[in-house]
Amino acid sequence: MTRNDPRTDLVGRGYDAIGERFAEWRDRIVGDPRREWEAELVSRLPEGARVLELGCGAGVPDTQRLAKRFQVTGVDVSAEQVRRARASVPEAVFIEADFTSLELEQESFDAIVSFYAFNHVPRELLAPTFARIHRWLVPSGLFMTALGTSDVESWVGDFLGAPTFFSSFPPETNTRLVQEAGFEILRDEVVTFREPDGDATFQWLLARR
Ligand SMILES: C[S@@+](CC[C@H](N)C(=O)[O-])C[C@H]1O[C@@H](n2cnc3c(N)ncnc32)[C@H](O)[C@@H]1O
Repeated sequence: MTRNDPRTDLVGRGYDAIGERFAEWRDRIVGDPRREWEAELVSRLPEGARVLELGCGAGVPDTQRLAKRFQVTGVDVSAEQVRRARASVPEAVFIEADFTSLELEQESFDAIVSFYAFNHVPRELLAPTFARIHRWLVPSGLFMTALGTSDVESWVGDFLGAPTFFSSFPPETNTRLVQEAGFEILRDEVVTFREPDGDATFQWLLARR
């Protein structure tokens, strides 16, 4: 049954199918700056803060680390990734949903993070998603994310043995859309690192509502 945008359902089914293969692939990435950015977020939040993670995947190890200090809610559209996350991070709450259509209470999170998930979001849904994130955050709440940087409206093809969908804007468009959603940009960097199949370039952003 298709409940979401068909492109998002394709992404969810893909991550259902590649489960463990994605975890192994991810472990072979070299130079991912996520730990440094995560440390910056942690340094800006009080213990016990309410943190929402969009596209949390299997929750290991990022959600797990965040859940040691904060009240974490993870969202993912892949039932299999959510199943794995619930098993690995029992102290966090997980919601199986498409975050581009999910309804959450306004001003109910101190920080919202999303690592490497927005490059699966259809371009036209990115600005409305940033607007939702802005609404879900408390005033001065933090938004941290790693965004795709290619100028690609739609790419459908194989990722680790299952079909998926990718879509992204160049960095200057990403920055503008985050600002237009009402955020103040605190840090904005384009970073290239090595994935198992070649170099990958993402834009890391930290912004404040
Ligand atoms: C590349 S994985 C990243 C997983 C994890 N954040 C990490 O860094 O390892 C992208 C994840 O985002 C999820 N995702 C993509 N689009 C989504 C959407 N619209 N709603 C919920 N989850 C989504 C996928 O199911 C997948 O688990």
